[in-house]
Amino acid sequence: MQKILVTGGLGYIGSHTVVALQEAGFEVVIIDDLSNAEASVLSGITRISGTTPLFEKLDLRKKDSVAAFFKNHSIDGVIHFAASKAVAESVENPLLYYENNLHSLVYLLQECAQNGIQNFIFSSSCTVYGEPDSLPITEDAPVKQAISPYGNTKQISEEILMDTCKATSLKAISLRYFNPIGAHDSAEIGELPKGVPQNLVPFITQTAAGLRTTLSVFGADYPTADGSCVRDYIHVVDLAEAHVKALQRLLTNESQTPYEVFNLGTGKGSSVLEVIKAFEKVTGQKINYQIVDRRPGDVVAVYADTKKALEVMGWRTQRSMENALASAWKWERKVRGI
Ligand code: WQD
Repeated sequence: MQKILVTGGLGYIGSHTVVALQEAGFEVVIIDDLSNAEASVLSGITRISGTTPLFEKLDLRKKDSVAAFFKNHSIDGVIHFAASKAVAESVENPLLYYENNLHSLVYLLQECAQNGIQNFIFSSSCTVYGEPDSLPITEDAPVKQAISPYGNTKQISEEILMDTCKATSLKAISLRYFNPIGAHDSAEIGELPKGVPQNLVPFITQTAAGLRTTLSVFGADYPTADGSCVRDYIHVVDLAEAHVKALQRLLTNESQTPYEVFNLGTGKGSSVLEVIKAFEKVTGQKINYQIVDRRPGDVVAVYADTKKALEVMGWRTQRSMENALASAWKWERKVRGI
């Protein structure tokens, strides 16, 4: 059984990917520092798959700890999620982001080289595109000046991977996520934002659950159909399955080039107001919201051109935004016991 290291594997996207890997027959070992995840996620994974993945609490900024880990495990591939990911926090504390996100990547890649590990999947983001010149966005759209240190760490990480693949026998794939939402339909795992949710859908579900009184819609004066920003909301389980596809592509040496990039989205843009309406329709829950000022750093509209992932990897989304919103609400109700 091939053994895959999933860093950040107790996080939102990481935990869903662990389940998808187990279902595809892989043995999984998780590294997580628990800075933005809870160890209890392990039992959620086990309740779904019946198998508890190996887990080591480890700070990837500690070079020696990373080296020690690889001495204890024979790894066939790495899927690297572990990173700080709050846009606003990265603006206030850029050095935390550059240290955590970049040191972790470099130490992991050094150990891959040291241990002959050639297959590496990187968690990137559509944030690297900034405000796109045209839509839908293809993978060869220009990477723009990052709007936040968080986005910049994703851009720099992709460059580190590209250079490393050129110089060594490493093969890597960067997956540029659009907006992941929803939860596994078992409601055993899902998104657990710490404090006040920054992202739209967890704020919506917490408003519906009565934890928040009002959802603030950050601007309705954008040049879009209804004035609110447009994003490409992808079901997190679709996203997880794309990681398995990408990993299998590397393990079977299908890629012609050592480094590849894929957009992971639905190809459909939805506005903030459309998401609210869809949530109300699917769940029957009324959302109390108010239009407020724009949020600095928001792009007007972004959604994926999904052709490459389909033609090259044979992957496309299978689940609708409505299904994702229903699963997010089911998860929120489970967490809050309502
Ligand atoms: C979506 C839309 C907001 C909250 C960010 C990162 C991206 C990835 C996902 C980590 C925007 C609006 C939101 C609210 C609102 N993160 N909104 N009220 O900003 O597209 O992407 O999170 O990997 O890299 O950039 O996602 O969910 O924060 O916002 O009106 O309370 O919802 O203005 O238009 P975003 P989001």
